[in-house]
Amino acid sequence: MIVLGIETSCDETGVALFDKKRGLLAQALHSQVNLHSVYGGVVPEIAARDHIRCLLPLVNQVLGAANIKKPDIVAYTAGPGLIGALMVGGGLASGLALAWDCKILPIHHMEGHLAAPFLESNPPKYPFIALLVSGGHTMLVLVTSFGKYQILGTTLDDAAGEAFDKIAKILDLGYPGGPAIAELAMEGNETAYPFPRPMINHAGFDFSFSGLKTAVMLTFQSEQKKGLNKKIKANIAASFQRAVIDTLVAKTIKVAKIKNINRIVIAGGVGANLLLRHELEYHFDGEIHFPKVELCTDNGVMIAVAGAFRCAEAMDVNEIKATARWPLESLISV
Ligand code: KG4
Ligand code: ZN
Repeated sequence: MIVLGIETSCDETGVALFDKKRGLLAQALHSQVNLHSVYGGVVPEIAARDHIRCLLPLVNQVLGAANIKKPDIVAYTAGPGLIGALMVGGGLASGLALAWDCKILPIHHMEGHLAAPFLESNPPKYPFIALLVSGGHTMLVLVTSFGKYQILGTTLDDAAGEAFDKIAKILDLGYPGGPAIAELAMEGNETAYPFPRPMINHAGFDFSFSGLKTAVMLTFQSEQKKGLNKKIKANIAASFQRAVIDTLVAKTIKVAKIKNINRIVIAGGVGANLLLRHELEYHFDGEIHFPKVELCTDNGVMIAVAGAFRCAEAMDVNEIKATARWPLESLISV
């Protein structure tokens, strides 16, 4: 059973071929970062147009690399995401499935992120607590099987990745902000500014990053008046990163303890953050599962793997599913 995975929900065009028996056969990824960085964030119309330009050549590239004429199933990200970008992936996936006379499978983007750690040599067993941290989501989820999700906490305002992107913009570090802040933070002192650890002592498991963002902005403005230099910016980046990571780690470990679950899975773009990985490993004495760093951010592999999990639901083409909002809890267990 060979699944072609297509990811176009935001600013990466990702394609991969996954065989249920043989594993990953081929993958290709095109990042639009250079197109969007001049605007300081993703421009939806530019994203959709660039997916149109790149998607078919990438599909041909992976088919050629794997020496395969056509897959059994075409799985594509149907949401959540940018509606125009999703329509491109869903449209091409449906056209290809009709031309190849094969089945189609719409995939939830965040379930795709959750599928990535299953490619590792020691995949997670159930149940586990998932920390899903991306540019659009910050969620703590109790996962009891593939497709059975109970959301225990979510962000009340900005997602963790979004906070990284906004602070990077203030510090003039370009887009995407996460990797740029992480790099600059290596030269900084993370105790230089005592930024708040938002909602760390609240009873629930929700997150809020907008107050932290304001605190960082006020500090930046006050330092700007005195005169900025690279060291000050590095100190702000390091102190901000430490505040976000402390919050994510504390809440995740607290949920795991209260739910009495000894297994944590991290997925989504912010999962690429090395301080997050290091701190969780240091403070949590249970099992921790991460995807490879390059599979944390958006890619076609995670969609192909999620498609393999859900292959029994593959169907004939009858509509192009594209939905900007799609609650994770509405999915059904495989
Ligand atoms: O999962 P993803 O590729 O796209 C969405 O589904 O949103 O996540 C992208 C987010 C961006 O906000 C980016 O700044 C953040 O992940 N990110 C990081 C790192 N690498 C990417 N955040 C912190 N540290 C990183 N190393
Ligand atoms: Zn994503």
